[in-house]
Amino acid sequence: MSARVGIGLIGLGTVGTGVAKILLANAAVISRRVGVPIEIVRIADLDVTKDRGLALPPGVLTTDAKQILNDPSIDIVVELVGGYDFPKRIILDAIAAGKHVVTANKALLALHGEEIFAAASRQGVDIGFEASVGGGIPVIQALREGLAANTIQSIYGIINGTANYILSRMTSEGQSFNAVLGDAQQAGYAEADPTFDVAGIDSAHKLAILVALAYGTPVNFKEVYTEGITHITPLDIAYAKEFGCTIKLLGIAKLVGNEVEARVHPTMLSASSPLAQVDGVYNAIQLVGDAVGDVVLYGRGAGSMPTGSAVVSDLIAISRNLLTGAVGRVPPASFPQEQRRSLRMRPIEEISSLYYLRFMVLDRPGVLSQIAGELGRCGISISSVLQQGRRDGQTVPVVIKTHMAMERDVQAALRAINQQAFIAEPTTLIRVEGQDE
Ligand code: NDP
Ligand code: HSE
Repeated sequence: MSARVGIGLIGLGTVGTGVAKILLANAAVISRRVGVPIEIVRIADLDVTKDRGLALPPGVLTTDAKQILNDPSIDIVVELVGGYDFPKRIILDAIAAGKHVVTANKALLALHGEEIFAAASRQGVDIGFEASVGGGIPVIQALREGLAANTIQSIYGIINGTANYILSRMTSEGQSFNAVLGDAQQAGYAEADPTFDVAGIDSAHKLAILVALAYGTPVNFKEVYTEGITHITPLDIAYAKEFGCTIKLLGIAKLVGNEVEARVHPTMLSASSPLAQVDGVYNAIQLVGDAVGDVVLYGRGAGSMPTGSAVVSDLIAISRNLLTGAVGRVPPASFPQEQRRSLRMRPIEEISSLYYLRFMVLDRPGVLSQIAGELGRCGISISSVLQQGRRDGQTVPVVIKTHMAMERDVQAALRAINQQAFIAEPTTLIRVEGQDE
């Protein structure tokens, strides 16, 4: 083994710059931990003239990623470009060239992880993707190793910093969704397309990765139910407070028999629950194992240095494997390829939950009993009702919380109720977790 591990970095943007800064600033401690230095051999980016505050040796920067793939002195290729086609080609070419790969690209892994993991296994190279979920939080390591003794019963994650930042500010300041979105973008947390953050797609990408690792199953991304936060209003947040709850965008996975629920949606959580305390760009993931019980991991879910920290932790793990001849010790998707089994993803219609329903109705006699009647006809039991104010003939909110009900039944009831003349706008549905049935 050579006296150093050589790395090639492709993409010197927010995360790439963080990675380079950490490798340069912490070179001594990293070298002591690994036993040899981890050296940046080449960095490829479209713009090599921009000042990124890095003191790099001359000749490191290039605009041509192929120079990294073709360089025999590079052991590990780090893909930090983002997107689909180009990074997929880079990663598969790197694997084919016998290089180990580190990526933060959750979108790519959620859609093409199977192909990439299979290629890495076939070729006998390591692939690290700690930064793909939860930024600086070591949740991939926890699932692949720390909790490997357990059957993972459930996962609850605040895994999008942008959405959590928006909901936190809506909660603390009573602001509208649109008023705080721009601030989150300016802070550099949002994806290139912020729709991914606010429509739940980024959380769904991350949840798909966690599910694949936790349950050893391939995940068809289209089967992850995905709902965002754009319809959440200050009114819902105020009602949540009245119920002693907080609204969070959660990624939820549950093992139910031989099936898996995987869903992303705004969720009302009891204000005293650990995830309800997580504010701003912070992420947290609560993993429930049959042996260990609850484990909660908390930290910065985005940003240059926290995400860079996760990328560098992968570089250190792979370097150690290289030095000790332990490459492939931990399979990419946590289970050896031949041990993976396809589990059925339970469609959202088949889940059971508690529900918060906000009806906007014309304030006139009999409306509440008609709503309650329809819910009853669909087998849904009510646990509490809130109707405040009296504005005869005008629109008022009627808020109902249900006992445990099946999603299919709730949707059927809402279809019928939403057609009624007294309904002024489509009903808001928010699923509730962690409260008594
Ligand atoms: P950025 O857009 O900041 O950085 C991407 C960089 O790659 C840019 O400098 C871009 O140049 C460069 N690039 C684009 N095409 C090429 C190419 N063909 N060859 C070489 N370089 C190229 O993205 P981020 O750093 O924010 O994200 C990188 C990855 O990390 C993404 O997959 C993202 O989802 C993931 N991630 C990001 C987090 C964050 O907090 N930002 C957190 C966790 C994961 P140019 O700007 O000129 O196009
Ligand atoms: N856009 C993502 C977020 C970046 O806001 O969490 C981290 O994956």
